[in-house]
Amino acid sequence: MSFTTFDQAPARLNRCELAVPGSSPHMFEKAAKSAADVIFLDLEDAVAPDDKPQARKNVIAAINDVDWGNKSLGLRINALDTHYTYQDLVQVLEACGERLDLIMIPKVGTASDVYAVDVLVSQIEAAKGRTKRIGFELIIETALGMANIDEIAKASKRNESLHFGVADYAASTRAQTTQIGGPNPNYAVLTDPDAAGNREVHWGDMWHYALARMVVAARAHGLRPIDGPFGDFNDSDGYRAQARRSAVLGCEGKWAIHPKQIAVANEVFTPSAHEVDKARRILAAMKQAQAEGKGAVALDGKLIDIASIRQAEAMVAQSERMPVA
Ligand code: GLV
Ligand code: MG
Repeated sequence: MSFTTFDQAPARLNRCELAVPGSSPHMFEKAAKSAADVIFLDLEDAVAPDDKPQARKNVIAAINDVDWGNKSLGLRINALDTHYTYQDLVQVLEACGERLDLIMIPKVGTASDVYAVDVLVSQIEAAKGRTKRIGFELIIETALGMANIDEIAKASKRNESLHFGVADYAASTRAQTTQIGGPNPNYAVLTDPDAAGNREVHWGDMWHYALARMVVAARAHGLRPIDGPFGDFNDSDGYRAQARRSAVLGCEGKWAIHPKQIAVANEVFTPSAHEVDKARRILAAMKQAQAEGKGAVALDGKLIDIASIRQAEAMVAQSERMPVA
């Protein structure tokens, strides 16, 4: 390990993060009873400009009155280039109780964006005598945010997670797509012709760089990497595939923009019994190897070594954070 270390964000189950528009109070109770680990009440893009004042009132009532059980509860405020942000923070934080866990900041572009929200939140917390420190979820969804991602990740002690906002990221980078996440047939290569002259189209994942970059920045700074939305909520196989590739890269969870997506996210981001069993067998085999003075051994015909211990420990630790079924 480097001599430089970053504290880990407080552990929080974050497999499925359900987005709930602040302008749709009829959805609040259902969301509270859902199986999502985290709910964020949205004041940003799911709420039309004229509905913002009422949405603030709705979320204040929801934070104070709805029984959110053991879920983590977040609030997505509007971005700093709007004139809504200060009212989102002041009105909601001054009026809501301590049940709110997280503030999600969209379209973060620089570390100063996080700093500005931190100043305001810290002042409101102090003025109102709030005792629970609110954490920050930061959406990386602009080219500027991606360019400054490491500085953003370490901009506040409140930072808990980085989220990949694929739709705004596509807009910001002017990607030739109008869908929210998912693969694109134009992001593909042709194989060389085989003996019969046939060529295959191999699709790639146009989001790979952005997601992998975000995972690295998050993990380097002790934060949770969380994958964002997948718009086609009727395509559960497509959603599952996207979630799986995010989990394999190191993400701890994914957004659900529809209740249909919750169960799939929970399933994908819960390490399987098979994976956990294998991790435990690696730990047992390496313990035995070390007792015999060896640094590497074969397990199931494959090499494992001391790095395998760290991989296996990470898998077991993740499984131990899961709720008991
Ligand atoms: C989420 O906010 C997104 O833009 O994808
Ligand atoms: Mg967005």
